Amino acid sequence: MRLRRFRRSAALREWVAETAVEPRRLVYPIFVRPGTGKPEPMPSFPGVSRYAVGSLPGLARDLSAEGVRSVLLFGVGRRKDPEGSDAWAPEGVVPEAIRAIRRAAADLVIATDVCLCAYTSHGHCGVVEQGAVANDATCDRLGRVAVVHAEAGADVVAPSAMMDGQVAALRAALDGAGHEETGILAYSSKHASSFYGPFREAEQSTPEFGDRRGYQMDFRNAREALREMEQDAAEGADILMVKPAVTSLDILARARHRFRLPLAAYQVSGEYAMIRAAAAAGVVEERAAVEETLAAIRRAGADLIVTYFARDMARWSRSGR
Ligand code: PBG
Repeated sequence: MRLRRFRRSAALREWVAETAVEPRRLVYPIFVRPGTGKPEPMPSFPGVSRYAVGSLPGLARDLSAEGVRSVLLFGVGRRKDPEGSDAWAPEGVVPEAIRAIRRAAADLVIATDVCLCAYTSHGHCGVVEQGAVANDATCDRLGRVAVVHAEAGADVVAPSAMMDGQVAALRAALDGAGHEETGILAYSSKHASSFYGPFREAEQSTPEFGDRRGYQMDFRNAREALREMEQDAAEGADILMVKPAVTSLDILARARHRFRLPLAAYQVSGEYAMIRAAAAAGVVEERAAVEETLAAIRRAGADLIVTYFARDMARWSRSGR
């Protein structure tokens, strides 16, 4: 046996490569804020900006022309209150963003994050009662958010609050409002992670007290992650997602054997920022490091990958090597 035979040339290596990370599999996250004006860059999140709703038609057309096929929208709330009520306002920033993108680029798949943390004054992902996030009251609110997004034209809603029963609550709310066709991308296995830092700066959603370990999963657990995924599948999720990505490859691989549903992985803001920082420091070559991590996520079993590098990947795949 001589395994080096097919490593001798680029053509042979291409011929036997087991996986590819096609741009159609990548989902580009976009932070949307109200109003008009230029994209706002963020110091801790190099290369990522908050986009004004008014600038989204232009952005959507550019993304579509560059080969990006889907986006995941995160709203930066107009006002915050203890309940997070701006999250389900029909004229809120995310519904406006959905309408703006849909008009400009009808062929983009539009997914939206469904959570309250960018809209609550305390920054937690749900309604707080007696110092803790109240599960069922939060599910009720998340259902309203999903319906408002579906009404505005979202193809897929993505609940990320890690409440028990959130997928069932969304499915019931959507079906009850006549949105049987709206899909659910469930953040099923979401660890309480130190890699969400730049995202929380973008969303201004750092909790005012405590942390998210009372609802997000302990990163030491993988069997529990599979239980979360089983639960979401039973509740009617269309796609199951793990997050962060590179720290969840074992979970992804085990889920690939267990489920026939499509699987997604979220390469989160801290994973992105680490690669950017290492590249800026000359420690790794950026494109090579991005391609290697995305290939590993794909190899482990992800059909779809949410990544802040989606736009770069689309561009790189058109420009060749
Ligand atoms: C909202 C949410 C978070 C992320 C996605 N949805 C942050 C959090 O749970 O604090 C993180 C994504 C990223 O870091 O890129 N609950």
